[in-house]
Amino acid sequence: MGYRILETADIPAYLRERGHWDDPADIEVREVSDGNVNRVFLASDRAGTRGLALKQALPWVRVAGPSWPLSPDRSDAEARAYEQLAKVAPDTVPAIHGYDPENHALVMEDLSDLEVLRTVLNEGAAYGPVTSPRIGELVAQLSFATSDFGLPSAERKALIAASVNPELCEITEDVVLSEPYVEHEHNHWLPELDDLAAGFRADARLRTEVADLRHTFMTSAQALLHGDLHTGSIMVGERAGTPVVRVFDPEFSFVGPIGFDLGLYWANTLVSEERARALGTLSDHADQLRLSWEAFETTFRGLWPTRVDTFFDDAYLDRFLGRVWTESLGFAGTEIVRRIIGFAHLTDLTTLPDPAPASRRALLLGRELIVRRAELTSPEAVRELVG
Ligand SMILES: Nc1ncnc2c1ncn2[C@@H]1O[C@H](COP(=O)(O)OP(=O)(O)O)[C@@H](O)[C@H]1O
Ligand SMILES: [Mg+2]
Repeated sequence: MGYRILETADIPAYLRERGHWDDPADIEVREVSDGNVNRVFLASDRAGTRGLALKQALPWVRVAGPSWPLSPDRSDAEARAYEQLAKVAPDTVPAIHGYDPENHALVMEDLSDLEVLRTVLNEGAAYGPVTSPRIGELVAQLSFATSDFGLPSAERKALIAASVNPELCEITEDVVLSEPYVEHEHNHWLPELDDLAAGFRADARLRTEVADLRHTFMTSAQALLHGDLHTGSIMVGERAGTPVVRVFDPEFSFVGPIGFDLGLYWANTLVSEERARALGTLSDHADQLRLSWEAFETTFRGLWPTRVDTFFDDAYLDRFLGRVWTESLGFAGTEIVRRIIGFAHLTDLTTLPDPAPASRRALLLGRELIVRRAELTSPEAVRELVG
């Protein structure tokens, strides 16, 4: 392959070679890969006082193996996204200690004192007041800074060119924005949902709306996105008594429609709500879409006076934010649908004692968000739809 695929035993020497650690004899390493795509190792000293995380891209999708090849250059997209994220929100991403493009390896802050948001929610915890506002704020900070409002035109063009991420965009175009609506070997669902899965494939109106969102995904170069902003790409916890939120895993990053980042997050909050409803553990789930949108909007409006191109006037800002809102709802719908009848399902639903009723509710909600997104003009309207 022309590069070194690192195993657990190789990590101490590698970290030393790259100048991250002086004494390789004092390193303990464990593999913690639980995402679908890459490998992650955690290294710590024996006293447990120091830690580093190392993420390496393999030349294939980890869970599929060599039968699903994927260019390891995706690690470049991840490293580039972290560079931009560190400029606008250094306290909301892991500190990056080094990137080795030859070996597609990123060495970063060990976040293992925090927990993945999805895990925490699945265990019954509430979101709390900090997480969703922080996510909305982060999307605004990243998207404003990398939009035509935050960057002069020529710099923007350079960013767009440098951030193309064709293979990973194609995965999204396939698994999120088309496969669930056609026959495809990736698709699977609960037998209780046969009627809906077949109905969605036969639904011409739904298909045209998804085509519209898919084309927006392909053509709308609004801003640099995280690209995979689900609750499994967020860690939460506390450090020194203060709530901490960290967003990680931006390897799907590219310059696309801002609503894709918000929509993915919203879909995952709505699915977590269906889980909680099914288990009788609903707490603050219903507030999260609104809280993240309000923080996004407030932050974006707050940055607006700093825009580099004042031909874009205040009335245009209102129009622009309205479009982002509507597209976010549509993308949220597609993310819900694909997580239930498409390729990669969510533990929020799959670990329920009886996943069918909650999955059915979520699937129907997903369809409504896609086809009625233009009529749903506020978070309250979405709440009425969720019911
Ligand atoms: N910096 C880190 N510190 C601690 N654990 C991490 C770190 N980065 C990733 N992980 C763990 O590894 C898992 C997979 O990482 P992720 O970046 O999501 O990989 P993938 O690209 O395969 O989805 C995460 O769910 C988390 O449990
Ligand atoms: Mg991941």
